[in-house]
Amino acid sequence: MFFNNLLTSSLLLAATASALPAEVERRATNQYLTNSHTAITELQTFYNSPRPGFWSAGWWNTANCLTLLADLRAKDSSSFLTSITDGPNGVFKHTLNSQNKDSTGALAWDDFFDDQLWWVVALVKTYDVTKDSSFLKTANDSFNAITLNDKPSNNPCGGLANAYPSEKYLVKSSTIATVLYVEAAALLATRYPAQKTYFINQAKTQWSWITQNILIDGIMQGDALTGNPPSCGNNHAFLTYIEGVALQALVALYHATNDASYLTTADTLATKLLSGKYGMMDNNKIALEFCDNDLSCNPDTAQFKGIMMRGLRTLRDAKPSAAGGQIKSFLTKNADSIWANSRQSGTNLLGQKWAGPFALGSSQALQLSSHSSATMALVEAALANM
Ligand SMILES: *[C@@H]1O[C@H](CO)[C@@H](O)[C@H](O)[C@H]1NC(C)=O
Repeated sequence: MFFNNLLTSSLLLAATASALPAEVERRATNQYLTNSHTAITELQTFYNSPRPGFWSAGWWNTANCLTLLADLRAKDSSSFLTSITDGPNGVFKHTLNSQNKDSTGALAWDDFFDDQLWWVVALVKTYDVTKDSSFLKTANDSFNAITLNDKPSNNPCGGLANAYPSEKYLVKSSTIATVLYVEAAALLATRYPAQKTYFINQAKTQWSWITQNILIDGIMQGDALTGNPPSCGNNHAFLTYIEGVALQALVALYHATNDASYLTTADTLATKLLSGKYGMMDNNKIALEFCDNDLSCNPDTAQFKGIMMRGLRTLRDAKPSAAGGQIKSFLTKNADSIWANSRQSGTNLLGQKWAGPFALGSSQALQLSSHSSATMALVEAALANM
């Protein structure tokens, strides 16, 4: 009798559910969104500590925290999220207002071009969801400062350097700085129609350096060119975030130019990536950075994997059939593994190695980068299910 009642009510529930519009039903069952919210609650325990307008210590890590919130905010208007992000005291405005700017209005917390370009991307994404032009203006001013200060003569092997020449950790012809510049220029092209041609040309010039030197056999290889022509060396390193930003750059170039060949290039890259043959995932297709197995990642490298997931999700939005239609299942499988195997019970802190077991470094900066990278992966899975 009791059993019968249960059966009846669950049948009733099923009937009610199937009567709901498909979109509402999907949202109601998006466990990835629920888990993203839980992870964001944990992420916010790092906000404003130790510096105002930052998550924990790293400036470029902070840009990625802003980006993941802006990406989610584009599709999530829940009171949970808006109470964190929106309004004069929300994270979007507060984070921007707390940054150092130089006399041109460019962000200038440090002298690394790649760090500044992560901010350009974050600010464009934040502008997209807030429509507050101060975000876009700072993005443009920052992009402009990089364009003026990165001298081609400082990079004999082409591309952009990662920093001003005086920087102790200068890397000339840096892959990440160059590919981020392409993404940033292409994003600005679609937000500033009057200067579209200029931004597209900037993006194309640097993308052509990438295709001639770094995009080898369809996938990004090498984190810089070293030496001098004609002997510019490539170390053929495979780093998840370089692949992710290349996907972002290609999709942004496609939106700016309407040239579908950029999506074809991105599709090939994603197919190669998901083949698992390049060492950026384990045998079960769980994302893996070179430093994950012995837990030797630092606060920079621990940030990388989430950025690959973001690139894949962005490509899937533009071309659902990319990588043989396998991107969504890759994103959800990784999010499942993070939640089941790489989460600290009690705190919901997410760890460095997504296949598990849960492990996290002791420094606050390393905890923040590992946790925010995994949170970005959860957000990408949530977005792929919305
Ligand atoms: C972007 O910045 C440049 C350099 O400051 C400026 O010339 C240009 O007008 C800005 N673009 C827009 C649309 O504001």
